[in-house]
Amino acid sequence: MEFISKCTADTISNAAQALIDGHLVAFPTETVYGLGADATNEKAVSRIYSVKGRPVGHPLIVHISSINKLDQWATEIPDYAIKLAREFWPGPMTLILPRTDLAKSFITGGQNNVGLRVPDQPIALALLKRFEGLGGKGIAAPSANRFGAVSPTTAQAVGQELGDYLDSNDLVLDGGQCSIGIESTIIDCTSDIPKILRPGTITKKMIESLTMIETKYIVKIEGIKAPGILESHYSPRAKLVLDTFPLAGEGFIALREHETPKGAIRLACPATSYEFANILYKSLRKGDELGLGKIVVYPPELDGIGYAILDRLTKGSSENKN
Ligand code: TXA
Ligand code: MG
Repeated sequence: MEFISKCTADTISNAAQALIDGHLVAFPTETVYGLGADATNEKAVSRIYSVKGRPVGHPLIVHISSINKLDQWATEIPDYAIKLAREFWPGPMTLILPRTDLAKSFITGGQNNVGLRVPDQPIALALLKRFEGLGGKGIAAPSANRFGAVSPTTAQAVGQELGDYLDSNDLVLDGGQCSIGIESTIIDCTSDIPKILRPGTITKKMIESLTMIETKYIVKIEGIKAPGILESHYSPRAKLVLDTFPLAGEGFIALREHETPKGAIRLACPATSYEFANILYKSLRKGDELGLGKIVVYPPELDGIGYAILDRLTKGSSENKN
C-alpha cells in the first residue's frame, strides 16, 4: 500500500489508472474515507470484500462524478429522486434505485437495485472524472474500515484499519480530515415514497420539504431492520455505553456544555452537533489507542444530524456484535 500525500493532477491520474488496472484506491470523501475499486471489475470488487472482511452479498455504493451519469447505472428513476439528486449532489446522500445491466450482482448483492452517490470532495471528484476519462463507469466504495469497525475519517485511520490487508499496488489518497465525519444518508427510491435506510446529514425534514412527500424511516433507532444494514456496526474495541455516568479511567464524549466527571478521560468536547459528528469516529479511535475498556457518550439532541449520530452510537453500542 502506498500513501499519496500530495494529490496533484499527476498522482490522481495515476490513481485512476490503478483503478482501471484492477487495484484498490482508498480516497477521501466529505463523509468518510472509501475503499474504491472499478465497479465493473468483478475481481477488483471481490478484493474489497476480502480486504474489509465483509460478508459477500452485502451491496456496495457506486460513486459517480455527476448526476449526468445516473442513467448509466439506474433506470425508472422517480421524479422525487431526480429532485433530490439535483438539490443534494454532489453531497452526503446515496440513492437506491432500480439498476441497469451495468450494475452486476457482485455490486448489488443480487438485488435489483443499486446505491449511487456523487461525493462532494475535490479529490474524490477529480479521481472520478479522471477515471471516467479513462473509460471507467463508476467507483464502488464502502467505508475503508474492517467490517463492523468504525469508519475512517483520516488517511492514517485507513492505514490502521486496512494496512495489513492491502497490496503493494493499492493506494491511499490523503485528503486530510473528512469535513462531515459520518456516512451519507441512504434513501431508498424504489417505490413512490422516499424511505430513509440510514440517517445522515441530509435529514428527513430536508427530504420532505424538497420533495413534498412524506418520508419514512425504515431505520429503527434500536435494532435496524433494513436490507443490508446490520445491527452491530461502527464499533470501537472499547465497550461503548450511552448516557451513563463515566467512572474514573473511562472515556467520555459529550457536548462542551457537559463537564467532565472526575477522573474520566475526556476524548472530545464538541461545541455543536455538527462538530460532534465530525470528531466522533476520531475520538472513538483515540479511546482505542489509549486502550480504554469503556467509552461513555452523551449523544446530542435528535434534531438535524443528531438522529444520525444516535443511530451510529446505538449500533456501535449494540451488545449483539457479529
Ligand atoms: O458516506 C458513505 O456512504 C460512504 C462513502 C465512502 O461514500 N460509504 C459507505 O459505504 O458508508 P458502506 O458500504 O460502508 O455502507 C453502505 C451501506 C451498506 O450498509 C450497504 O449494505 C447499503 O449501504 N447499501 C448499498 N447498496 C445498497 C442497495 N442497493 N440496497 C440497500 N442497501 C444498500
Ligand atoms: Mg461502512
